Amino acid sequence: MAQKPVTVTSALPYANGPIHIGHLAGAYLPADIFVRYMRLKKEDVVFICGSDEHGVPITLRARNEGKSPQNVVDFYHTMNKKSFEGIGISFDIYHRTSSKLHHETAADFFTHLHKKNLLEEKESEQYYDPVEKTFLADRYIKGTCPSCGFEEAYGDQCEKCGTSLSPDELINPRSAISGEVPVRKKTTHWYIPLDKIQEEWLEEWIKTKKYKPGEATTSFKSHVYGQCMSWLNQGLNARAVTRDLDWGVKVPLKNSEGKVLYVWFDAPIGYISATKALLPDDWEKYWKTTNGNNPRLIHFIGKDNIVFHCIIFPAMLKMHGDYVLPENVPANEFMNLQGGKISTSRNWAVWLHEYLDNYPGKEDVLRYCLIANMPENKDSEFTWEDFQNRNNSELLSILGNFINRIQVLTGKYYDFKVPEVSDSTLKSFLEENHPQLILSITESPDKIGKFIESYNFKSALNAFMDFVRSGNKFLTDEEPWKLQKTDPEKTKVVLFTCIQLLARYAITMHPFLPFTAKKVFDMLGLDEAELTWDSAKKEVLVLGNTTIKSVGHLFSPIEDETIQKEIAKLSKKENTSEVKQEDAKSAEIKAAKEEVTFDEFVKIDLRVGQILTAEKVKKADKLLQFEVDMGFEKRTIVSGIAAFFKPEELINKKVVVVSNLSPRKIRGVESKGMILMAESPGGDLRLVEPAPGSNPGDTVL
Ligand code: 2FM
Ligand code: ZN
Repeated sequence: MAQKPVTVTSALPYANGPIHIGHLAGAYLPADIFVRYMRLKKEDVVFICGSDEHGVPITLRARNEGKSPQNVVDFYHTMNKKSFEGIGISFDIYHRTSSKLHHETAADFFTHLHKKNLLEEKESEQYYDPVEKTFLADRYIKGTCPSCGFEEAYGDQCEKCGTSLSPDELINPRSAISGEVPVRKKTTHWYIPLDKIQEEWLEEWIKTKKYKPGEATTSFKSHVYGQCMSWLNQGLNARAVTRDLDWGVKVPLKNSEGKVLYVWFDAPIGYISATKALLPDDWEKYWKTTNGNNPRLIHFIGKDNIVFHCIIFPAMLKMHGDYVLPENVPANEFMNLQGGKISTSRNWAVWLHEYLDNYPGKEDVLRYCLIANMPENKDSEFTWEDFQNRNNSELLSILGNFINRIQVLTGKYYDFKVPEVSDSTLKSFLEENHPQLILSITESPDKIGKFIESYNFKSALNAFMDFVRSGNKFLTDEEPWKLQKTDPEKTKVVLFTCIQLLARYAITMHPFLPFTAKKVFDMLGLDEAELTWDSAKKEVLVLGNTTIKSVGHLFSPIEDETIQKEIAKLSKKENTSEVKQEDAKSAEIKAAKEEVTFDEFVKIDLRVGQILTAEKVKKADKLLQFEVDMGFEKRTIVSGIAAFFKPEELINKKVVVVSNLSPRKIRGVESKGMILMAESPGGDLRLVEPAPGSNPGDTVL
């Protein structure tokens, strides 16, 4: 029987923000462990990912930043690709959904379903912005959440309470672009008839995936199954797969100008187009039954993506007809951080690109800590204290210590040459003295492997560490540093055993700690590419007389000071919140402006003013309008600082005003003067406040 091709995908992250540890622990690290293991098992596996570059949040961000959507996705695609590489996520391809190949693949998929008459075409009334002359899909519409009363809920979801919404459910809807009250207008869209599909086969198929402890490889985790059943029990509805937008894959039909495929229709097709880009002539065997052989399709995702991967994408694949359905969707739950939910807007996050910059050489420490706390079946937490503890008391004291003792002792006793020990001496020594160690050697690789195959990555890591502990125990029992004085021949057998153990550790640690594994392979003169998972069970991996390379300490202690700094950084709002493109370009202080003469300088009339009223300017997201008491008169001033301050927090504040600036009309309002701000290199603004006791009208010299 031919080997089954294995297709492993990780959720395509949106290219509108950087990657944080929650993403990593959810969909990328578990997939990477699985794939690295499969490669060592010599399985025919492909690991697929890329940027999800469509969707309204991207266009909104582009609009707010005065950039094109392409500009936004280019930036984050490059940044995220680099971060994933930096932490060792070993994708075979990191593709993009803005590519031509993807647009063609997604459009063909839609055309295929349309030609088969499987899509329902329906006319409905949707919200329309009369000022911007555009329909308001998903996040282009805002309003009050009917569940929790949050006033900034989006047309597809309330971010406060998590309820998924449709635009019609919002109370007091308004356009997220202009702030206008929208009108209703007729439009036509195409729908997947999920209601019929549920009845025809989908519910039955999902039920075959009910969690069964003995069949963890092919049955869904219980929380995944539970979420699917809850959707099915509510009854699925037909779901629109097109939108009235101009950013996305154009609907490939006549008379459908201004319409694109819904981002959640095209994104999972991104897995297929990425496979095509990777293997133009050979991609089909990873997606379709080929010569009677079914590929295994496995989607690694976070729990917020379950419905799309367990219900909607399988429905699409089956409607198409040529594709296999996923064997499993091992979704993880969420990872919290230091007692709170990870939040991009509150900047409660550990950003991967920042970690990589700040901790070069400690990539495996983060991997280890995230795996040890992986939210496999329930939400979990990352804390910097745990990070320190795992580094100091586990990686350094257990694994690092073993590696270090071996290199030091081999250097000292044998000038870095592996001692020569015959197979029979080794065998009888272990059989007589260390039956437990033999057991650990023969059983650990399979035990770790079984855990990985059943998506129990935490248990797999624990089993690996137990394997290392058995080596440390062996060393402590034999005490070669004492034995050398009394029995140098036996010492050779002990260290030879340790060197073989170390090679086995390097193989079995590779899925979890690939950077450390590589260093150990180099130390032992082993070629990583030639090793297999099962070779970890071999008796001899490193031959006598091989020269060992000293690699120094592979782990170093993490001090209290370091983690205290990280914790303090978290609670500060100014900690670069979402990384802006500008930040990456210029962390440096802005260049000084051109010199001015004293005479020029004194022409500027700086005065203390006091803000009397402050309000947002209609249809201008960035502007605030103030009435300012200047002592000698009241002035209207408009300022582009709405992103940094709430109007109410500025009332009564004393400020410094450039009072003789020529008046300017901004959005129809005449602004007389300018309020001074201090701007950090990251773009954060703070008010320049005059000294206490100053009064409106005072001059600032
Ligand atoms: O939730 C997200 O970040 C989505 N961009 C995931 C898409 S997964 C797939 F379907 F492409
Ligand atoms: Zn809500």
